[in-house]
Formats: sequence, structure tokens, C-alpha cells
Amino acid sequence: MNSRDTLLVKNSDLIISGVKANDIVKNYGSPVYVMDQNHIENVIDSFFSALKENYDYSNISYASKAFCCKEIYRVISDKNIMTDVVSEGELYTALSANFNPKNIIFHGNNKTYSELEFAISNGVGLIVVDSYSEVEDISKISIANGVITDVLIRVNPGIEAHTHHYIQTARPDSKFGFSIQTGDADKIIKKVKSQKNVNLRGLHCHIGSQIFDNKSFVLAVDKMTNYYKYLFDNFGYELDILNLGGGFGIYYSEDDKKITLSDYKDAVKLITNELKSQITKLNIKKPFLILEPGRAIVGEAGVTLYTIGRIKEIENLKNYISIDGGMFDNPRYALYQAKYSAILANRANEIPTTKYTVAGKCCESGDLIIEEVMLPKANEGDILAVFSTGAYNYSMSSNYNRNLIPSVVMIKDGKCRLAVKKQTLQDLIRNDI
Ligand code: LLP
Repeated sequence: MNSRDTLLVKNSDLIISGVKANDIVKNYGSPVYVMDQNHIENVIDSFFSALKENYDYSNISYASKAFCCKEIYRVISDKNIMTDVVSEGELYTALSANFNPKNIIFHGNNKTYSELEFAISNGVGLIVVDSYSEVEDISKISIANGVITDVLIRVNPGIEAHTHHYIQTARPDSKFGFSIQTGDADKIIKKVKSQKNVNLRGLHCHIGSQIFDNKSFVLAVDKMTNYYKYLFDNFGYELDILNLGGGFGIYYSEDDKKITLSDYKDAVKLITNELKSQITKLNIKKPFLILEPGRAIVGEAGVTLYTIGRIKEIENLKNYISIDGGMFDNPRYALYQAKYSAILANRANEIPTTKYTVAGKCCESGDLIIEEVMLPKANEGDILAVFSTGAYNYSMSSNYNRNLIPSVVMIKDGKCRLAVKKQTLQDLIRNDI
């Protein structure tokens, strides 16, 4: 269980933002993704206030690939922050929720012509360029629409960070970005500058995900600001936006550091202090700073509730509990061997005595959710709560084995509301001819 303060155990029950997990399953069925809006808002407020206190000329942009549905865009819209999207589908969802297009940043290494047309004709605020020919398309579409499109360029600053490590000379052969080291970044900048109706506003980088070592972000600030200085000194380009991407870590299992809201504030403080000192040292124009957290905003806010079905004890080898979900609602173990923590939500005060492997119901041996977890001796019908499932679970869900994608329930101040309905069998065959 993570340390978010809206999760509690009272008597035998897990309580999520004031509501008994058991009652959520009774009312909304199982499996169900439960998203705690209070926690989402608390994380946003922590990032936002730390930015405003330390470097006012800034905003955060929620990386909506982490969890995307109309309701989350409404929640973040109320907070006046920006969002980033990586496909026409995410953009369409944001616009359908009346998210202000000016506050949308459009990313992607292969935005199609029609996606760019859709973005530009809807007045998206910033497009992050990640290929040479894309710039020509942006120019053509902008001229046709009679608009000037603001763009950032995705650069690869040569730092790659994951969890507790960073590599300073990250390989320049990433599918994302233009490497500073190889001179490709210079080339794309010159190209963008030569295009009509395209306005280069600044640069973007994203150095990795699930990062706990804040030194990686400091290093990114150094690399990017030195490059801003180089661009001004050598070409006279003065850029006014610096987007440093996301990547702030969350707690999944005992392998991770327990995160509190003040950890995010500390990270922002470190990043902005470094930025301020680089601005003075290098004498560059103060850029508008954007940070793009996704996982940090929604990850710990999510709990998935499952009902335990068949239990298989293979003597002296393994005890399996099978749940009514699996890799179709959470593919992260299958993809990354990701670790999670879990409890029995209806017997939350009992001492864990038995080691279990939590298996999904898909026809695939790798369909596990947790490899080893200690629980009280489980029974069919018990409710399993898996924590920190708010990011990259619903957004990466699928209909594998024609399983139905579960509903999403959002809770605020003890009140539940449906954010996404559970799919129906009719949904599965809707597009079948
Ligand atoms: N900005 C850009 C340009 C990104 O590519 C990403 C994530 C983010 C921001 C947000 O990063 P975050 O704060 O969420 O770490 N499916 C993987 C994660 C892929 C992240 C891709 N890019 C997972 O389940 O762990």
C-alpha cells in the first residue's frame, strides 16, 4: 500500500477516500478501477504551488497518456493546468471534454498529416516537432488555415534516467528527439526556422520515467540551458519555452521509495533552483518552464479492485489466486515485470500468512499481476485491492481474449461517480462486420 493519505484500513475494511472498497464493488461491480480525485488534486496542487513559489513563469502539463478519459480532462481543466496528448484519439477526448485547445501540447514521433490537420484546425497551443518532414506538413496546413503554429522541438539531451540510475551519454539512436551531441538538433532547428507560418517557441526533452534520483533532472536543466546559450551565441536564436518532460517516480512495491507530496515539491525546488542559477550564470533569457508529469499525478490515486475466483495450491511449489481481471486491465507485469502491492480489501486487518501469485484470467502463462505477495489465506469471493494502478493501466487496457474493459469510478470527498462505464458484450462486436 502506498502512503497516500486518502487510503485507510478501518476494522476489517480498506477505505478509499472515505468509501469502503466492498461497497464500491457491490455498487459498481468487479473488476473496477477506483480513482481518488482528492489525491489527484493534491498532487497537482503540490507541483503547481512549488512551481509558483520558486519560478512563477511556469506551468505543469499533465501527460494524459497515463490515464485518459473525458473526466480526467475536466478535473485538470478546473486546475488551470495544461495537458499533453500523443494521438488524435487523446486530442479528440480532451476536446470533447471542452479542454481549452490553447493549453494542449501535441507530441509524437509519427503524427500523421490528418492528425496535424485536426490539431491545427482546432487551435492546439503547441506542437512538439519530432521529424523533418513533419515541419513541412505543419507549415502547409498552417498556411491553408491562415494561422501561425507555435512549435517546440523534441531534443535528446544525452541523458537517460530510470528509477535510481541515469546514464549521462544516453545513446543518440533513440526513436524520440534530435540529438544535441550529433548535431541533428541544430539541423532541425534551422529547418523549422526556414518554414513559413511555423513559429519556434522552444525545446522539449523527456529523459525517462519512474525517476527517483532528482540529479537526473538537474543534469537535464544544465544540458538544455547550455544548449539555449549555444543557440543564441551561434545563430542568434532566443527561445522562450523550456519543457523538461515528466518522469517523477511513484511507490508501487517495497522496492520503491515511499513518496510524499513534499518529495514532489523538493524535486521542483531543485529543478527551478538549478534553472535560476543557470540563467544567471549563462546570461540567457528566462524561459517559460513546463513540467509534464503523468504517472505522479494519477498513479498512486488508482486502486484496482478484483474478486478472487479459483485458487490453485500446487504443493511445495506455488499458490495461485486467480482474479476476474488480468493483463487486459493491467498489462504492466506482462510487459515490464512491474511490481505491485496488494491486500485483501475485505479482510484488511488480518495478518498475511500465505505467499500467493496473483494470476489473471487470460489464456497466457505470463498473464500475472503480482509474482509474490503475502496475504491472509484467501477464499473465493474475497476482494483483492492492487495499489498504484492509476497510471498506464486503464490507458493500456485491451480486449485481449475479448474480456471487457472495467469501469472507472472517481471518488471525491467520499462521493463516488462513474467516470467510464464498463464495456458491454455489444461493445465488443460493434465494429465487427
Ligand atoms: N512527456 C513525454 C514526452 C513522455 O513521453 C512521457 C511518458 C511523459 C511526459 C510522462 O512521463 P511520466 O511522468 O508518466 O513518467 N507505459 C510505461 C510508461 C511510458 C512513459 C512514456 N512517456 C509504463 O507503464 O511504465
